[in-house]
Amino acid sequence: MKKIKALIKKMFPFAYKIYNNKIGKNRVLKEYKQFKSYYNDSSDNINNIGYKIIVLEHSLEKAMTSNNPRYFGIEKVNSIIKYLDMYDIKKYNKDFAYNIGISILHSYCEFYEKHNWINRDEYNNVKIFLKGKNAQITSGCMEIKKEYIENNNKIDYERFLKSRHAIRTFDKKRVDPEIVKKAAMISQYSPTACNRQMIKIYHIIDEDKRNRLINFLHGLTNFETENSNFILFTYGLSAFDENEFKQGMLNSGLVAMNFVNALHSMNIGSCFLEFNNSLEEECEIKKILNIPSNEKIAISLVIGYYPQKAIIPCSTRKSINEVYKEIND
Ligand SMILES: Cc1cc2nc3c(=O)[nH]c(=O)nc-3n(C[C@H](O)[C@H](O)[C@H](O)COP(=O)(O)O)c2cc1C
Repeated sequence: MKKIKALIKKMFPFAYKIYNNKIGKNRVLKEYKQFKSYYNDSSDNINNIGYKIIVLEHSLEKAMTSNNPRYFGIEKVNSIIKYLDMYDIKKYNKDFAYNIGISILHSYCEFYEKHNWINRDEYNNVKIFLKGKNAQITSGCMEIKKEYIENNNKIDYERFLKSRHAIRTFDKKRVDPEIVKKAAMISQYSPTACNRQMIKIYHIIDEDKRNRLINFLHGLTNFETENSNFILFTYGLSAFDENEFKQGMLNSGLVAMNFVNALHSMNIGSCFLEFNNSLEEECEIKKILNIPSNEKIAISLVIGYYPQKAIIPCSTRKSINEVYKEIND
């Protein structure tokens, strides 16, 4: 099948591109249609509710950082209560979003108590709702001291970044999943829009699935694939509203780069692979790997232990003057 595809690609390159949705309006429209079938609209399915709670929760915690606070969040707490109730009505699994929802309502009450606003209706409504419901996790606002930041940001970052290079040959062993999990945990500290944390990281360990994935990936020329370990980054389409079509890629990039740097700090090398597969191929990959259809694959990454020596491209950077511009007037 691969050989036939390669032959068609060689003989009819343009037709092949159109057939594979590699180019043109058709591909963009299909991607948008996929986005539209899952984005966070007004419906109250479980995928939407969780993200709605997180967005509201984050908005309330931002309001709590105000220097001059006034009553706030009256509609927002009601919406959170409505969504939290749906977990019980629909018997949804009480996940992070549920717990952060409960937690922020507790923080909201504490905030109102601190400001002596306890006669307000919104405070009393929340208090009634929270009866018997405990927060499992922290939310709200906290103080951060400059001293704490300055005591913890002392690494030679320039040296660290300059010692990372895309690497395409690796030591002959599979990467320890515990290291990959640790890198994923570190990369969770990346910022995401409204703290929605919509990025997932898949480490393909199963050999058969790994080999099937390789057949789909582009950009693997010059790789030693037998020693390569594969990672996919996805973003949850339901995390975004209809105006945020392009946000998934940005958020994925932020997490992926921190993941790569975390791996580098633990002596694991890596190289990104452009994920420009057609929508049909993406769906096939997701089926093979049991990735839910409401997630979009953003990037793939090859990882492995650094070998003793490797020949790598120089990948010389442009002069800073071509990149950095000061706008003075
Ligand atoms: C989004 C993205 C896609 C990439 N795709 C490929 C690819 O398909 N194949 C490949 O060999 N390298 C790929 N690379 C690696 C780049 O060529 C490499 O990162 C770049 O030359 C800079 O070199 P450095 O990572 O060593 O600093 C990709 C990098 C990025 C960020």
